[in-house]
Formats: sequence, C-alpha cells, structure tokens
Amino acid sequence: MELLEKPCGGSGHFAETLPDTSANQCRNRPMASYQSLLSADPPPAFAYIEPPFEFNSQNVSKYPPEVTGSLVLNSISRRLGWHSLAGMRLLDLGCGVRLARAIVNLQMPIGLYAGVDVNAASIAWLKENVQDARLRFEHLDMHNALYNPAGAHPADDELSRRGLTGFDAACMLSVVTHQDPDDTRKLLRMLHACVRPGGQLYFTAFLDEAIEAYVDKEAGQPRAWTSYNPDFLIGLVAECGWAVKAIYAGSVLHQPALVCDRL
Ligand SMILES: C[S@@+](CC[C@H](N)C(=O)[O-])C[C@H]1O[C@@H](n2cnc3c(N)ncnc32)[C@H](O)[C@@H]1O
Repeated sequence: MELLEKPCGGSGHFAETLPDTSANQCRNRPMASYQSLLSADPPPAFAYIEPPFEFNSQNVSKYPPEVTGSLVLNSISRRLGWHSLAGMRLLDLGCGVRLARAIVNLQMPIGLYAGVDVNAASIAWLKENVQDARLRFEHLDMHNALYNPAGAHPADDELSRRGLTGFDAACMLSVVTHQDPDDTRKLLRMLHACVRPGGQLYFTAFLDEAIEAYVDKEAGQPRAWTSYNPDFLIGLVAECGWAVKAIYAGSVLHQPALVCDRL
C-alpha cells in the first residue's frame, strides 16, 4: 500500500514493485519526447477561391456565400431524393459564383458540377481560377433584358452540343425569377437535352395564385422580379418535357422551389 503512493518516475526499486495494472502503466512507461510525438496533416487539398462578383439579393448576401451555398446545395440534394451529393452530376444554369465557392472552399463532395451563365466575366474568372477537376464552366450568350440585353437567341441544343449531357439533374436558382415565359421555355428545353433520361430538374420561381399567368413586377426594370401563376408554370414546364412533382414554399433563405422529373 505504501509503495503505490510513491510518485511516477521514482526509483527503479519502487517502479519494479508496482503491479502492472492500467492505472500504473504511465508510471512504468519511459517519457516520450516531443519529436517522437509530433506528426502533421497533409496541406489542404484545395485552392481557396474568392471571386470578385456578387449576384445575390441583400438578404442572402449578408451571409458568407459558402454558408448559403452549402445550405442550398444540401437542400437540393435532399429534395431530389439523393443520399448525398457524392458522385452526382449537377448542371447549374445561371450559376453566378455561390455554389462554386461552397463546393471548392468547403470541399463539398460532388461528382461533377457544371456552371453555366450569361455573365462572361464571372465565367472567365471561374475558368481561370478554379483548379478542381470536378468543376466545369461554360459561358452562354443568351438574351436577357436584365442580365444580357444584347444577347443572342441560342438553339435548344446549344448546351448539349458542347458536351453538357448525361447530368443527373439540372438546377436554376433565382434565374426563372428573371425570365419571361418564352425565355423560361427556352431554358427548360436546353436543360432537357442536358439531363439523362430519368433525371430531374430543380428550380426556384416566385409564385402568385392571384395573377393570371405571368407578371413582370418591377415597373421600369424589366425582369428584375418576375412572378408566375403556379398552374400556368406547371403547364409551361410540361410543354418542355418535364413534370413538376413537388413544390416547396419559400423561407428566409430559400425562394419557392419546384422539383421536376424529366419525361
Ligand atoms: C440572381 S443571380 C443567381 C445566381 C446563382 N444562381 C445563385 O443563386 O447564387 C441570377 C444569375 O442568372 C444569370 N442568368 C440570367 N439569365 C440567364 C440565362 N438566360 N442564361 C444563363 N444565365 C442567366 C445571371 O447572369 C446571374 O448570374
């Protein structure tokens, strides 16, 4: 009993006489050196990106883009019924820079992320600065009264003929909210050619049952805020080879969202 009260590192005589219980192992073990304990993790396997662009509204952009970007990506994945984003191929039309920031800077899992946008400067920046083989970017020159007034009128196969095909899903976040019905039809048809049979579409839109079909709500600023009657939009989506299967109401950081199957 007296021996057990002697401190660790005492004389060899005491150490030898201690029973080899787990409580006494530290007293019997030689002290490890700093160098023998030291190890290091490999450097982070990503190059942080900070694109000099901001496309989101004030209530969204007051949060870091990685915060809202990862939140949105995880919602999309869950609402599409995916177990996770790992291995999935997602085409983001009207991508801006937010989801790319989240995927790269937070090293989120994904099979392939293709971002397409009418903004030539942001797409050029992303092509130049994103060194992550899972991400690809394409500029689309398409007319939009707000974002690209001098733009062209691309064919339905404009994206698919550039090899953007076989995607598990396409998404448009805060993009249809800036399109008239003809441009929305065009985008839906282009995406139909990019998504594999059995694939899905996720997009946000402002919905208003009180209007007849479609309203451009911001007087004097075309396409700043477009709103659709939900049944009109469901019919328009069906014209373009998709079937709406779920609609999620909007919340603080989410616009109302529609989930569709490719027919
Ligand atoms: C409000 S921002 C949203 C950006 C991004 N989706 C997000 O949620 O962070 C709208 C984006 O759609 C792009 N856009 C608008 N019309 C487009 C079109 N017809 N084709 C491709 N991109 C378009 C704009 O350039 C802009 O980047």
